[in-house]
Amino acid sequence: MSKWLAKYVGSFAYRYFRVPWDIGPREELVVLVKSGRLTPCRSIDLGSGTASNCVFLAQHGFDVTGIDLASSAIGLGYKRAQEAGVSVNFILDDLTKLRNVSGIFDLLVDYGTLNDMHPRERDLYVSNILPLTHSGSQFLLYCFEWQLIWWEKLLFLVLPFRAALEPGEAKRRFGQYFDIEEISRKTNRRGWPRASAVYLMTRK
Ligand SMILES: C[S@@+](CC[C@H](N)C(=O)[O-])C[C@H]1O[C@@H](n2cnc3c(N)ncnc32)[C@H](O)[C@@H]1O
Repeated sequence: MSKWLAKYVGSFAYRYFRVPWDIGPREELVVLVKSGRLTPCRSIDLGSGTASNCVFLAQHGFDVTGIDLASSAIGLGYKRAQEAGVSVNFILDDLTKLRNVSGIFDLLVDYGTLNDMHPRERDLYVSNILPLTHSGSQFLLYCFEWQLIWWEKLLFLVLPFRAALEPGEAKRRFGQYFDIEEISRKTNRRGWPRASAVYLMTRK
């Protein structure tokens, strides 16, 4: 169901509105690239959305592929890349059933895509992205992450998407394949989403 939402509602939103996450390249990615911790390589953005991270990486010498399920995200990505004068390879594909993406990447980036998926889709996502990696590939994962309270659990029984990983879920899902470093954690005491975490993972 969350795929349906991404494909149709997401496409509509990208075409006609400025989505709330259209906020430019993300802080942790910018710091890692500018500090030289992430250096130009073959990279892929999983759920590229408004393409801010793709454009930023391309501007800093990375070879970039962006994947999204929403066709208008692909169109927007090409427009943003052209405006910025960079080249990015955007591919319409489904991270739970990859058909159009192949090859091996040195860097994977996910800002807020995995956390929207249902648990079964998360399982499929993991099995689909692993073949895109090699030993030493890095994976920068940003996710909303907190322990859901009772009314959130009820809400997500009826909503067609999820919003957060459970604490410990990133380790449970990725720990056998990646060494995991938590590089940031933020708690939003008054607002919602309530907390986020950023992991830099290195494929074993
Ligand atoms: C919250 S947005 C984040 C977009 C982008 N990472 C950013 O930070 O601006 C999540 C994105 O993942 C895409 N998405 C969701 N499910 C997907 C799937 N199964 N395969 C590919 N893309 C998906 C959505 O279309 C959407 O563009």
